[in-house]
Amino acid sequence: MASRGGFLSTSVGTKLLIGVTGFLLFLYLLIHIGGNALIFFGPAVFNNYAYVMEQKNPLLPLIELALLAVFLIHAFKTVRMFLANQSARPVPYAMKKPAGTPSRKTLASSTMIVSGLWLLVFLIIHVKAFRFGPEYDWPAGGRDLYRQEMENLSNPLMVLFYILSMTVVGSHLFHGIASAVQSLGLDHPKWTPRLLFAGKVFAVIIAVGFMIIAAWVYLNQPGAGRVRV
Ligand code: HEM
Repeated sequence: MASRGGFLSTSVGTKLLIGVTGFLLFLYLLIHIGGNALIFFGPAVFNNYAYVMEQKNPLLPLIELALLAVFLIHAFKTVRMFLANQSARPVPYAMKKPAGTPSRKTLASSTMIVSGLWLLVFLIIHVKAFRFGPEYDWPAGGRDLYRQEMENLSNPLMVLFYILSMTVVGSHLFHGIASAVQSLGLDHPKWTPRLLFAGKVFAVIIAVGFMIIAAWVYLNQPGAGRVRV
């Protein structure tokens, strides 16, 4: 039933809002992994990318605010929907069984709230380190983001935390993309199964891609014991 919030407060509106915001966050991750992959080309290329994105882009503060708003709406709406579903079923099932085909229920789908909350913690630690951590100047202009990334991922425990978190990102996207496709009402006999499959492939590419970046940065620390991959 529509309340004060109108359509967006109904269960259909909520699912739509979660789907659209989730899809926007997925698009951000695609851009983010593309930018971060430039670290393989060394400090000059990577810092130049950061310089162009940050110093030459007057829309950046607006984009960052929009990203934050999208993230907050996604988190707020999903937690509220989870709590509403919980209170609608006050007595939990005695035993949880896999739903089997044709249900889309998987480990990834039934742990969305846990993976989402993990990502919230990851993001607080991650954004604090990169956005609000110590910065160094890069002589050609802007900041030395390459050095910052090297330092942030020089601790093996931090790299382990990143790799675990990327598994969680993959799991969240594995179900999340399929769920967004469904919430957005995309239901074509030929294209929907392909889209669902592509979503799963992208989930794995994003998770494994970020893991490779984190491991590469750790293994390519400046100084002794340098390993080139
Ligand atoms: C190996 C994995 C990752 C690396 C090396 C990495 C690297 C970075 C870097 C270098 C920045 C700073 C960019 C800047 O301030 O201009 C950044 C910011 C950020 N990252 Fe990541 N990232 C990783 C994974 C992720 C994941 C999985 C997410 C989301 C779930 C994420 C979300 C963000 C956000 C929201 C920001 C702040 C953006 C802003 O303020 O403009 N990152 N990351």
